[in-house]
Amino acid sequence: MREHWEAQADSYYTKRGWSAADARVVELLGQHQHERWLEVGIGPGIVGAAAKRRWPAMRYYGLDLARNFLHLSRARLGRDLPLIQAAAEWLPLKTASFDGVLEMDTIHHLPRQLIPRTVAEISRIIKPGGRLISVEDWATIPDDERARLAYSLQAKRHSVAEGWEYHPSEPEWTVMFTAAGLHVESIEHPWRPLDLALFASLPHMAARAELRRLKGIWGDDLPTTTMSLFICRKV
Ligand SMILES: C[S@@+](CC[C@H](N)C(=O)[O-])C[C@H]1O[C@@H](n2cnc3c(N)ncnc32)[C@H](O)[C@@H]1O
Repeated sequence: MREHWEAQADSYYTKRGWSAADARVVELLGQHQHERWLEVGIGPGIVGAAAKRRWPAMRYYGLDLARNFLHLSRARLGRDLPLIQAAAEWLPLKTASFDGVLEMDTIHHLPRQLIPRTVAEISRIIKPGGRLISVEDWATIPDDERARLAYSLQAKRHSVAEGWEYHPSEPEWTVMFTAAGLHVESIEHPWRPLDLALFASLPHMAARAELRRLKGIWGDDLPTTTMSLFICRKV
């Protein structure tokens, strides 16, 4: 798994755009600007860099499995950013050692059976009363034709169909957070760009027809998807 992410770093960085979800996270972090936060799965550090620029007093730490992503984060965030190479499911960090944790688009990449354990690990390192901000995709119920087509295509992707990634629904996330001692205070639904190229190589005839319909509906507009942004308080 680590090799997979090591190989992804440069292309992910080039393709990773900016979204309403990113802007909202940076804004929310303003309520915690004098605190010690860890971003789990910091990737290329795009949100971390924006947060540090806007909230320079924040004590921001980054953790990632892949060294190549940590190099990218280092380049964006500078030498004094504490970075940790570790797996989210086995955090080499003290219990209750952070005021808050941010994770975006990371936990769903772990094997399904490790997701509850990873949530519990993250909860363990947050101080009582601290916060988890978790941003994940494909967790809402699709409520229009665009979303239904996108969800149908997403389900046909190899990594999803083969179970290499698992996207819990909002109720499943809520059950896991609660079991780990994290009270879900609110769920917001900011957008993120949806890269339709993700679906371009799906072999099924049905997928090709769905993709044509989806492209037709979006037309010249930027395709987007709805994220689930959970704000949780450590009990
Ligand atoms: C899709 S990227 C998201 C990166 C970043 N959060 C962002 O929004 O740009 C997923 C990140 O999670 C990291 N990752 C994957 N599995 C991990 C694990 N088990 N422990 C820690 N990091 C992991 C990858 O190396 C990658 O940087």
